[in-house]
Amino acid sequence: MLNFKELSKKYQTPLYIYDFEDIKRNYFELKDAFRARKSLVCYAVKANSNLSVLKLLAELEAGADCVSMGEVKRAMYAGIPKYKIIFSGVGKRDDEIEEAILKDILMINIESEAEFDRVELIAAKLDKKARISIRVNPNIDAKTHPYISTGLNENKFGIDIENAKKLYIRAKNSNYIEPIGIHFHIGSQLTDLKPIEEASLIVASLLKQLKVLDIDIKFFDIGGGIGIRYNDEETIRLYDYAQAVLAALKGTDVTVVCEPGRYIVGNSGYFLTSVLYEKVNNTKRFVVVDGGMNDLLRPSLYKAYHAVEAVDVSGDISKCDVVGPVCESGDFFAKDIELPRLKHGDVLVIKSAGAYGFVMSSNYNSRGRAAEVAIENGKDRLIRKRESFEDLIRLEKEFL
Ligand code: LLP
Repeated sequence: MLNFKELSKKYQTPLYIYDFEDIKRNYFELKDAFRARKSLVCYAVKANSNLSVLKLLAELEAGADCVSMGEVKRAMYAGIPKYKIIFSGVGKRDDEIEEAILKDILMINIESEAEFDRVELIAAKLDKKARISIRVNPNIDAKTHPYISTGLNENKFGIDIENAKKLYIRAKNSNYIEPIGIHFHIGSQLTDLKPIEEASLIVASLLKQLKVLDIDIKFFDIGGGIGIRYNDEETIRLYDYAQAVLAALKGTDVTVVCEPGRYIVGNSGYFLTSVLYEKVNNTKRFVVVDGGMNDLLRPSLYKAYHAVEAVDVSGDISKCDVVGPVCESGDFFAKDIELPRLKHGDVLVIKSAGAYGFVMSSNYNSRGRAAEVAIENGKDRLIRKRESFEDLIRLEKEFL
């Protein structure tokens, strides 16, 4: 068990802790689920892009799913080989497309016809052939939070089946585009298998039609999105997930690519924060802590649930809101939860904070970002320093 009290003393708070053994376990569980096929796990860098996390995954032979050149460069810097890197995203800039082609990554995942045109133009200018996949929008309701649902026509992501097919035909006849993949991702934190099953069937049917047209797709990319348990929700079993995808792919010979982010790192991460004060307004009890929405935005942005527990404190419990120091009423980690009476310096652990935690943090209110620590083989080590005041003003001070 991790010793949160010791870790908070040693590294101070607010602090992110990642259990690397747990990350390894999650990675191998997923890899194992697809063992009946050639598969490539392209970790979604956006979930947690700390270089040490990426290096760990590189050592496990994972690839990377990236949504900016910054992420591509991070992945490569951490040792993920270029031939395992996918570049997705609805809004790629010309310079990013150019760099992706020059870096010779596995494939660029195209999200619109206009982007197809740009990629073709840029590849022609470079006199290179760009390897691509097309993100198909299967028009499936993923039944998750609307902010992280992506597979419906009303969402900005991907291309509908008919237009995707037309683009594949264009790609086949292009001197500068080589279609090698087909992709879908219908949303994040999915806890119901049905929509993934349906999407797999729809996209696999397009794959088979392309085969008839002599368009040889090698990678079937099922995106990410597997939900994790934040509270007591039932979520998808990996075995069922893999079986659903493999069943849709019967009779084909493609490598399955998946792009999990949250599943790999979500429950492997913890956010530690210290109690500053308790206060009561009228009858409402607040626990004010030193971490804020700038450190962990998910509760404020999505009203997301994260379990909050007091470390090594017992006693009678009562209802309270756990709130941060940022000047916004939306700055909270939990509302109406039961905690024992707390004093200055007591530590709270906020669970399931490994995915979309640190990466979504900001310097709002001129607060430095938290430090990050890895636990591996029973040892702890710093993997990102706490940001200082110097860090905050570094890019501005020369202009005074
Ligand atoms: N692939 C693509 C194309 C994606 O857009 C995403 C996530 C993933 C893979 C990884 O999804 P995952 O396996 O982690 O569910 N900030 C939100 C989540 C945004 C997800 C965006 N796309 C949150 O905190 O819940």
